Amino acid sequence: MHRIGIIGCGWIAPFHLAALQKFADRATVAWVADIDSVRADAVASRYSVRAISDYRERLDEVDCVHILLPHHLHCQVTTVCLEAGKHVLLEKPIATSLEDADTMIACAERNARTLMVGYLHRYRKSIQMFKEIVTGGSYGRLFMLDAMMDESLKGYLTGWTSRKETLGGGVFFSSSPHMLDVMLWIAGDVRCASVVGTHGGCNIEGEDTACSILKFENGVIGVTRHTWASPAAPIWYTMEAVCEQARVRLTTSPEGDLFRDGPECAWTTRIEAHGAHDEVLLESGEGLDLTAEVEHFFDCVDTGACPQTDGRAARKIIELVLNAYADAEQRGGL
Ligand SMILES: NC(=O)c1ccc[n+]([C@@H]2O[C@H](COP(=O)([O-])OP(=O)(O)OC[C@H]3O[C@@H](n4cnc5c(N)ncnc54)[C@H](O)[C@@H]3O)[C@@H](O)[C@H]2O)c1
Repeated sequence: MHRIGIIGCGWIAPFHLAALQKFADRATVAWVADIDSVRADAVASRYSVRAISDYRERLDEVDCVHILLPHHLHCQVTTVCLEAGKHVLLEKPIATSLEDADTMIACAERNARTLMVGYLHRYRKSIQMFKEIVTGGSYGRLFMLDAMMDESLKGYLTGWTSRKETLGGGVFFSSSPHMLDVMLWIAGDVRCASVVGTHGGCNIEGEDTACSILKFENGVIGVTRHTWASPAAPIWYTMEAVCEQARVRLTTSPEGDLFRDGPECAWTTRIEAHGAHDEVLLESGEGLDLTAEVEHFFDCVDTGACPQTDGRAARKIIELVLNAYADAEQRGGL
């Protein structure tokens, strides 16, 4: 039975706790920690667990931690936990710099502990099905991927999320990696990537809207389009794959108010193929559910297997993003 500590009781914490509730036979949550006691108490009472303020004082009570903190704290807290012999499930992105990512990867290896980064989408059943469909050959060769995330976050981006130093960049650093991770998983290594960005109305230092183009080593090309300044966010996540004989589209959108409802929010996920004729390949209620991600983490901890989204996989993504930012600077700015 694993004993879990949750470090950070902000927006994403209830999603981790809701997923952990499904593993009562494998894990128990020993405590939730936050420097803000109001936040820690709120999460603790909602999930009937103990609230603490300083995770370092209770690390001896757990063998695994979920680290759900602002990005600039990822390296420092992860290394403390790994050095104390804890397995770590860390929210994305791995860190704000490649140097920090390297420190964390080396620390996990030195201490022989699991370090997994929470890129949840590739663990979702619908995305796994999407990958099988578009790479399986039944619609011919895949040659283009096009992903869009449309989110309305104007009122939510304050504090650490509004500053480049603490977020690591803008939307392309913080959230487009959800799409990049899936694209790299589907199409393999990237040969080159470029990004442009702009401000659509969020009060943050980095770009709130970004588009990127990618060329993969296998010849596939990709596009990401992402805004945090959507006026409505009607569709939260769309990924399209263009194959020789059909365009396959996955959409995932919340039915209710995600910010109000949290893990209780209802979702619709749909996969359609448009080719010689139109087909609906999947209709499900799958949404922002971390169950499969958490299960993979436990499986890796139990068997010693390397997580699919380990430190190195997560490092590749910030390397791609930081190189694209640097390239944009050379062209005169994002
Ligand atoms: N997978 C997803 O779809 C998804 C969605 C949102 C956020 N995230 C990620 O989750 C992480 C947290 O994001 P969030 O939106 O929950 O942020 P948040 O600002 O809502 O919460 C962060 C919490 O960390 C606490 N904190 C700060 N320093 C601390 C410390 N030293 N010890 C303990 N607690 C401390 C803050 O008080 C706050 O409650 C980020 O990495 C973010 O990118 C992932």
